[in-house]
Amino acid sequence: MCGIIGILGREPVAPQMVDALKRLEYRGYDSAGVATLEGGHLTRCRAEGKLKNLEQKVAASPLRGRVGIGHTRWATHGRPNEVNAHPHAAGPVAVVHNGIIENFNELRTELEGAGAHFSTETDTEVVAQLVCALMATGLGPVDAVKAALPRLRGAFALGFLFEGEEDLLIGARRGSPLAIGHGEGEMYLGSDAIALAPFTSSISYLEDGDMVVLTRAGAKVFDETGAPVARPVMQSSASAFLVDKGNYRHFMAKEIHEQPEVVGHTLGHYVSFAAERIALPDLPFDFRDLERVTISACGTAYYAGLVGKYWFERLAKLPVEVEIASELRYGDAPFAPGNLALFVSQSGETADTLATLRHAKAHGQHTVAIVNVTTSTIAREADAVMPTLAGPEIGVASTKAFTCQLVVLACLAIAAGRARGNLTEEDEQRLVRALIEVPRHMTAALALEPAVEKLARDIAKNRDVLYLGRGTSYPLALEGALKLKEISYIHAEGYAAGELKHGPIALIDETMPVIVIAPHDRVFEKTVSNMQEVAARGGRIILVTDPQGAAEATVDSLATLTLPHMPATVTPMVYALPVQMLAYHAAVIMGTDVDQPRNLAKSVTVE
Ligand code: AGP
Repeated sequence: MCGIIGILGREPVAPQMVDALKRLEYRGYDSAGVATLEGGHLTRCRAEGKLKNLEQKVAASPLRGRVGIGHTRWATHGRPNEVNAHPHAAGPVAVVHNGIIENFNELRTELEGAGAHFSTETDTEVVAQLVCALMATGLGPVDAVKAALPRLRGAFALGFLFEGEEDLLIGARRGSPLAIGHGEGEMYLGSDAIALAPFTSSISYLEDGDMVVLTRAGAKVFDETGAPVARPVMQSSASAFLVDKGNYRHFMAKEIHEQPEVVGHTLGHYVSFAAERIALPDLPFDFRDLERVTISACGTAYYAGLVGKYWFERLAKLPVEVEIASELRYGDAPFAPGNLALFVSQSGETADTLATLRHAKAHGQHTVAIVNVTTSTIAREADAVMPTLAGPEIGVASTKAFTCQLVVLACLAIAAGRARGNLTEEDEQRLVRALIEVPRHMTAALALEPAVEKLARDIAKNRDVLYLGRGTSYPLALEGALKLKEISYIHAEGYAAGELKHGPIALIDETMPVIVIAPHDRVFEKTVSNMQEVAARGGRIILVTDPQGAAEATVDSLATLTLPHMPATVTPMVYALPVQMLAYHAAVIMGTDVDQPRNLAKSVTVE
């Protein structure tokens, strides 16, 4: 939810930290700040709002320190203003924090009782005050942090800087990601490899419970027992992806248009194009032994899971439960040991999804992570990882990761169908051929963008929009509604088309646009009836279909977006693009911050 950077440099570090924070801004952006040592003294510069406000302040009064920490914030405790902006300081200690300190109230009461004076509303200041109090008892910085960490309850990543300590940074990780960058005579701390990409591609990842003591000579890592531990240095791929907008106005636009390419990359990882067969990596279970699959995720990733359910049940006759992670982790769903639990997550750091993975593991499930960040915590804790090769997804609204998740789920379902004898070799080849065509169909879908942009002008005038779909188009209706509301702030709802007459039809009038996602498949006629019910009440329909659907939809619609004909199995991947583009252009027309919508963060690493 927030971004952390720390640099032990040979030159003034403030400009580098601001550059790194720009790469972290997708994680949270309601305030930002840096702290360095100026003549050995802690000096902070913080600003409310977008990072450019901090950049202007730092440029106006340059900081000369060669060691520092920085932070870009998504507020959890305390209003998003300069006072509550990180780094927070107490005495000789400055700290930046990503996550939540759940017991900050009791610690604050204890510290105030011992004479500490707090100046912010944040949970983070408690950490600075606690370490400061421990140092006041005579402990050095490293021992004070070591003593403080067990007192903290919650999920966090921390970076510490100390008055007079020109060659020291300390980091700690419990539940929120934190990486170490190994430079030439310089060392770095960052929330992820993307932040560190301009400085180094040699990255180590802290594990939960780790604490790291950085000097320019290197890193010493200690595990939660305090024992020294070695974390491997890996070459990060983040620097391989030039993370910028290219010639697009927004990252989201770029990422929508990258889908044919990255879906192709992902397919290449799971399919033999030559043999037209699925070619999965080894998995720690046999599909024939499974009685049930549980799929758990949040947001858009959850909707991908909902599509996966239809595929597993249709292609492999394998019962699937799809559960929102925040519900499953606190529910009482019975798990029969030895079954499969799939966790879908772009970031691989979503707190609820991670907690649910641990819950499923504790209940004897084989756990597989479908993630876009293979070095993420969810990836590292799952029994097996199936990466989506979408490349860094910067826009807060997930697009290319979603369609790549669908590709992985489809490949898994086909493999399950073959293993369980429900699909013949010919079936497999037919389905794989359909998958191989998806990038081409996506390109055709992208060609509809001018028409979509025109429709977006109409959508942007409305307060409420309804999305309808049946079968695998129903999760797409949910996803389309989420896209629209999270980036344009227009209220939208996705509904199973068959549910219309059980209530939502009361909403229908000429002010309510209805987006109907309906390829010509086995439920198309049923959806046409729903469209007639909408039209009869003056509802304005935007139909997303294929040539046969367009020909047979005997209903006047405001507009029809016609995608190429394609096998029913792959329609969700391709039909996602028009709904993504519709939301994108509506948001552009609404003038919202498309890549960094208000109140949102790219990765929700707190409950
Ligand atoms: C998607 O557009 C949203 N930004 C959000 O729902 C997201 O899908 C959800 O937070 C899950 O994130 P994850 O895939 O990184 O776990």
